[in-house]
Amino acid sequence: MNQIINGKTLAKSIREEVKKRVDVLKEQIGKVPHLVVILVGEDPASQSYVKAKERACLTAGMKSTLLQKDDTMTEEDLLNLIKQLNDDVDVHGILVQLPLPNHMDANLVINTIRKDKDVDGFHPLNIAALHIGEPGILPATPKGIMTMLHSTGIPLKGKNALVIGRSNIVGKPVAALLLKEHATVTIAHSRTVDLKSLCLQADIVVAAVGRAHMVTADMIKPGAVVIDVGVNRVNGKLVGDVDFDAAKDVASYITPVPGGVGPMTIASLLQNTVECFLSLEKK
Ligand code: GUN
Repeated sequence: MNQIINGKTLAKSIREEVKKRVDVLKEQIGKVPHLVVILVGEDPASQSYVKAKERACLTAGMKSTLLQKDDTMTEEDLLNLIKQLNDDVDVHGILVQLPLPNHMDANLVINTIRKDKDVDGFHPLNIAALHIGEPGILPATPKGIMTMLHSTGIPLKGKNALVIGRSNIVGKPVAALLLKEHATVTIAHSRTVDLKSLCLQADIVVAAVGRAHMVTADMIKPGAVVIDVGVNRVNGKLVGDVDFDAAKDVASYITPVPGGVGPMTIASLLQNTVECFLSLEKK
């Protein structure tokens, strides 16, 4: 009875749609959205993420600039760079790849990005907008997760949704989005007692804890929709937070790792970049 939600295919169709929108913009106003990505330091995972973001932008016909900075860069220099980009009319989206080196205050850095160029949706004003139901930029991974849930056609209203993980990037915003769509939302985390019984009540499970195969098949209510945000490396292999091979026979819909949520994050980032461009063009 299970169906795999193929993030690669869904993301591909979103990226094609974005490309069409960008082509129209280019023809109509002679401009395309421009995303600037800043990477400080040489974290290998971050390097591969930012390169993937850059490639995706270029493939969608957008302009992309990757600014790679040494990890000796001072916080003040980074803040000044962001302020310059905030004022640059040729820049429509600014993304500072996280994590930042320890000598930098990530919150201060994010707060410095103009809210209408904040393609990550991490600025406190965008987070506030999400919680009070005002228009704003949604964080890319939660936005991609919601697109995946919508693709199943299953109504979310009144469903029991369990979000495992309470990060600012995934857990908290995805919980807010599910709540906005009238799900009954529970957030579990590392101190939660009896995760299994909460899981067994959930019609929708979003696993975003970062622990390989933490959610096992016996924890899943038959017919539940399972979204796996985990990216864990075990013996060189990428695996999710859910024991996919066993859980797929219990769930109605489930996302694989890799090829699930990951590609959706980039597709949503492209959508956000177009949205930022359009809102800046209106100003
Ligand atoms: N590091 C891990 N995920 C993300 C993300 O979505 N945005 C940024 N800026 N950094 C990240």
